[in-house]
Amino acid sequence: MTLLVAVQGWDAQAWAARFQTLLPDVVVAVLGDDIDPASVRHVVCWRHTPGSLVQFTNVGVIFSLGAGVDHMISDPALPKVPLIRIVDPDLTNRMSEYVVMHCLMHLRQQRRYDAQARLKLWDDDRAQPAAQNVRVGIMGLGQLGRDAARKLTVMGFKVAGWSRSPRTVPELETFAGSAELPEFLARTDILVCLLPLTAQTRGILNKNLFKGLARDGRLGAPVLINAGRGGLQVESDILSALADGTLSAATLDVFESEPLPASSPLWIHPAVTVTPHNAAMSEPEAVAGFIVTQMARMAAGEQPDGLVDRASGY
Ligand SMILES: NC(=O)c1ccc[n+]([C@@H]2O[C@H](COP(=O)([O-])OP(=O)(O)OC[C@H]3O[C@@H](n4cnc5c(N)ncnc54)[C@H](OP(=O)(O)O)[C@@H]3O)[C@@H](O)[C@H]2O)c1
Repeated sequence: MTLLVAVQGWDAQAWAARFQTLLPDVVVAVLGDDIDPASVRHVVCWRHTPGSLVQFTNVGVIFSLGAGVDHMISDPALPKVPLIRIVDPDLTNRMSEYVVMHCLMHLRQQRRYDAQARLKLWDDDRAQPAAQNVRVGIMGLGQLGRDAARKLTVMGFKVAGWSRSPRTVPELETFAGSAELPEFLARTDILVCLLPLTAQTRGILNKNLFKGLARDGRLGAPVLINAGRGGLQVESDILSALADGTLSAATLDVFESEPLPASSPLWIHPAVTVTPHNAAMSEPEAVAGFIVTQMARMAAGEQPDGLVDRASGY
């Protein structure tokens, strides 16, 4: 039985070595190795080349090495087997750190003080809104959105969440579906996007949505934080919304095209904070452990965590 590592953009050998340590009795191979395709039962993948898994006709399950599965579902030739994504506290905590840090950064205007420091300018403007007067709206109330909401609430922010289906989350105001989106946006000063990329969500972060955000907030104009996927955002609309004051600032971890091209104006925009799609890195120690646990569960006939609903695309 072979576990195949099909990874692009990350160090495939490092992942293979981690799996080999955890599974000493299993043959671990990397896509491209000289192996018998019929021996492959498990595939772990991240941005594999579409069509490159068709030869593995005995595969029983495919794992994403991340929480998102858009990189797998976009492959029309993906074997029709169960798909499992990462649902692990290590990854969740990393994302919440990112979301809390950037909400606080915008609340406390840290970019402005960085710019002032470069000019040796001492401007102790006292107009600092309190977290309790700032409304954060989280798009996506899944594993990541719910944890971020809980931690932002601890920091004092007024937090609400929006999901596809109605959700009840303790101490959280919730909205669902397109019918409740306008009300959710109208009470949001900092919009945090933690949605998956699907046919329904592609391009959702566009000028019409930005226009629906609160205009009476304590931060001046609303702020966008997107750590979901780049395909969720229309970058030309973000730039024009920043130019006409519909948005005051943005933190972007993900981009329409990655790596972000050198020609993108986002790199040097004074109101944009760019991070290189690492809001929540998949750490081999934690993620390989999660996958090995799910393999054992499936072998014992138990339901694994992280099972993906192919129909909904996440
Ligand atoms: N930047 C990074 O480093 C990084 C790292 C990890 C993950 N991510 C991204 O974060 C995403 C979310 O991860 P997760 O584990 O929280 O996912 P999840 O548990 O599957 O949650 C997804 C949430 O989005 C909602 N949703 C999906 N489609 C929607 C729609 N059309 N309208 C409204 N809400 C919709 C779902 O609604 P329901 O509750 O009704 O199902 C759910 O609340 C991943 O898919 C990935 O793209 C980014």
